[in-house]
Amino acid sequence: MKKLIALVFTLVASLAQASGDAGIKIHSSGADLSDQASLQRGAALFMNYCMGCHSLKYLRYSRMAADLGLTEAQVMSSMNFTDIKFGEAMTVAMKPADGEKWIGKAPPDLSLTARVRGSADWIYTYLKSFYRDPSRPLGWNNTLFPAASMPNVLWELQGVQSAVFDAPHGGQAGAAPVFSHFEPVQPGRLNAEEYDQVARDISNFLQYAAEPAGLEAPANRRLGVGFPRGADLAHLVAEA
Ligand code: HEC
Repeated sequence: MKKLIALVFTLVASLAQASGDAGIKIHSSGADLSDQASLQRGAALFMNYCMGCHSLKYLRYSRMAADLGLTEAQVMSSMNFTDIKFGEAMTVAMKPADGEKWIGKAPPDLSLTARVRGSADWIYTYLKSFYRDPSRPLGWNNTLFPAASMPNVLWELQGVQSAVFDAPHGGQAGAAPVFSHFEPVQPGRLNAEEYDQVARDISNFLQYAAEPAGLEAPANRRLGVGFPRGADLAHLVAEA
C-alpha cells in the first residue's frame, strides 16, 4: 500500500512538472548548452532587454565572457550601461524599492531561475505566454504566471497577442476559465519562428547562468558564429 501511494505521488509530481503553475503546457525549448552561438545571442539579448531590471548576481561579466568565448570589448560594446566593470558581478542599477514603485514588485535575481523553475523550458514558455490584458496595472498578463507584474518587454519583437479562455470545465461556479489559445493582435518585427529562437536563446543563456560549471570544455563545443555586435543586433534591439 505504501508503495502504491508513493507511486501515485511520483505520478502526480511528474504530471505537475509537465504543466505550469496554471495548468499551462510547458513547451520544449530546444535549449542546448553546446550551442555557443545561441548562448552568445542569449547573453546579448539578456544584457539589452532584461538587465535593466534583473541581475545575475553569481555571475561575473569576465566569467561569462570566458565561458561563452567572448572578448571584454564584445561584452562591453553590447551593454547599455556605462558604469560597469568587467570583473564585477552582473548586477543592475535598479534598486528594489524603485522596482516596487515603478512596476509594483522588485524584479528578482534570475541566477537560479532555470533551476528553481525546473528547466529552461519554463522560461521559454513564460516568454511566449504574455498577452494583452487591460485589467492589469501595466496592461500585460501571462498565462503561465497569472498576474505576473512583469510587462512583455519583448513585445516589439514578438508582437501583441490576446488570450482566449473557455468557460470552466464542468461549468462550476467560481472556477477559473481555462486557457484555450492566443490570437495575434499586432504583428512584431519578428515572425513566430524568429521569436521562438529569441526565446530559446535567452532561456538557453539563463540555463547556463544557473550552472556555469555545467558547460563542456570549449574544444567540445560547436563554434559560435560570432557575437552579435551593436549594429548586428540593431534589428532586434528596441529603440529606447
Ligand atoms: C521592467 C522590468 C523588467 C524587465 C525589463 C524584465 N523583467 Fe522579468 N520580471 C520583472 C518583475 C517585476 C518580475 C516579478 C514578477 C512577479 O513576481 O509578479 C519578473 C519576473 C521574471 C521571471 C520569473 C521569475 C520567477 O521565477 O518567478 C522571469 C523568468 C523573468 N522575469 C525573465 C525576464 C527576461 C528573460 C527578461 C528579458 C527578456 C525580463 N525578465 C525583463 C520585471 C522585469
